[in-house]
Amino acid sequence: MSRKSVYVTRAIPEENIDELRKHFDVEVNPDDRALSKDELKQKLKGRHAAISLLTDAVDGDVLDAAGPQLRIVANYAVGFNNFDVAGATQRNVVLTNTPGVLDDATATHTMTLLLATARRIAESDKFVRDGKWQGWAPMFFVGLDVERKNLGIAGLGRIGKAVAKRARGFDMNIIYSDVKPDADFEKAFGATYVDKDTLIRESDFLTMHVPLTDETRHYIGAKELKAMKKTAVLINASRGPVVDEVALVQALKNGEIWGAGLDVFEDEPKLASGLVDLPNVVVVPHIASATPQTRIAMGEIAVNNIIKVLNGQVPDTCVNPEVLKSAAAQ
Ligand code: GLV
Ligand code: GLV
Repeated sequence: MSRKSVYVTRAIPEENIDELRKHFDVEVNPDDRALSKDELKQKLKGRHAAISLLTDAVDGDVLDAAGPQLRIVANYAVGFNNFDVAGATQRNVVLTNTPGVLDDATATHTMTLLLATARRIAESDKFVRDGKWQGWAPMFFVGLDVERKNLGIAGLGRIGKAVAKRARGFDMNIIYSDVKPDADFEKAFGATYVDKDTLIRESDFLTMHVPLTDETRHYIGAKELKAMKKTAVLINASRGPVVDEVALVQALKNGEIWGAGLDVFEDEPKLASGLVDLPNVVVVPHIASATPQTRIAMGEIAVNNIIKVLNGQVPDTCVNPEVLKSAAAQ
């Protein structure tokens, strides 16, 4: 029997590709750039499986172009808002993501952004590099205190909890909002469950850890920014569209909040007009999970899911499990 064919839309760690090659014919996009929609359609044609990235829009059109032999698309990310989940289910294609392995890296990065914004690290680093430093001064680059301030966590999933664990080391008070409270978490972290309005109003540092869905798009908009403390900092290492970026630029310009630390943006790699001119923001290019161990572990999950599904087994991290039931019934 001929080997099954797998396409990888952009280079991921070599050890992951090597593992995949033991089982299948593998082609990897040789260019270190994201594919256009047309290229994606063309490259997936006739494949049995693909590893996709969060920059690949995997929709009905792409799945149709791939053809009915396509069994699985494994996203090399925990977020999967780039998937048309219903469209894949309809076409009997299994979709998987990479939860769990990037919680530590993402939570550490979130704390890094929080601390860097509070202590004005990007701004003062630039000041030194620009040769402007004249010597120590008492009121120079005074930032914000972090200790004993309220950390508001919007969305208490695995990553939100990992952030809370780190924030406890800085003696932060933890408040959180989600669809339902978590009594064990409250007990372990002395955390308090609040509604969204309270979270917005009371947070000194507000960090976003919700998935991007129709409900969470612009979770933070002009109204929420106005309701925040003038001394508050907004942190986002989830998905850009969770925050209305144009409204955020206005709020920062008007002093409605103190600062922002951003890993993600609404229309990556573009930034909202005026954002980079603001001194009180730290902006980094969507790198929350970018550590060697994490990136290999993400690849291992994607590769194992493909091996399992192409061998008729159940994958470890399926985002549309309905499809497995219909496959079993076939
Ligand atoms: C990164 O943003 C991911 O979703 O894994
Ligand atoms: C600061 O450098 C201090 O010694 O207080």
